[in-house]
Amino acid sequence: MKGVVFTEFMEFVENKYGFDAVDAMIEASGLSGVYTQAGNYPFEEMLALVVALSKEVNVEVMDLVEAYGVHLFSILVTLYPHIDKFTSTFDIIAHVDNIIHPEVQKLYPDADLPSFRTLEQSENKIVLQYISKKPLHALAKGLMLGAAAYYKENITVTIDTNKNPTEIEIIKNNG
Ligand code: HEM
Repeated sequence: MKGVVFTEFMEFVENKYGFDAVDAMIEASGLSGVYTQAGNYPFEEMLALVVALSKEVNVEVMDLVEAYGVHLFSILVTLYPHIDKFTSTFDIIAHVDNIIHPEVQKLYPDADLPSFRTLEQSENKIVLQYISKKPLHALAKGLMLGAAAYYKENITVTIDTNKNPTEIEIIKNNG
């Protein structure tokens, strides 16, 4: 998993819960807590950090991952030079799998990215399958909500983990 996902996670935890929470999380996880943006680290370390934080601040793991996704979007867009090609939340969601992530893969060949298969797409609704080795559907939801915040739009994202692969439904709310 890319170092930027770790460095920004530390930033997110410090902003939201304070430096003592960062410290306690690292201590409880038994990890060094030292990451660089250009590095690459095992996904298991991210999991250990989130589980430790969840116990520390008494918030569900998936809720933390989702909130982190909202933050992460605002950082990823600054790393991605062609973001201004996209004009709306739906425009960006519809192009993650066929444009954005493939370009990310070219820039960072060691990135381990998910794929999304479109099941349904209309003006106000998108249904995607989330296909990944990692159970990070809540991160996908947070990133989508982060995109909506970026474009000042309002969407509802619903995840169905009973489906295999997991399905994500995005509804555009008008007004
Ligand atoms: C709404 C838009 C987006 C969605 C739903 C999305 C979804 C995801 C998810 C769920 C992951 C975690 C990996 C996994 O699940 O297997 C991920 C990783 C990542 N995404 Fe995206 N993404 C979005 C936009 C972007 C943008 C704009 C960038 C631009 C740089 C980006 C770059 C990355 C990078 C660098 C990773 C880390 C890969 C790794 O850890 O090796 N994503 N994305």
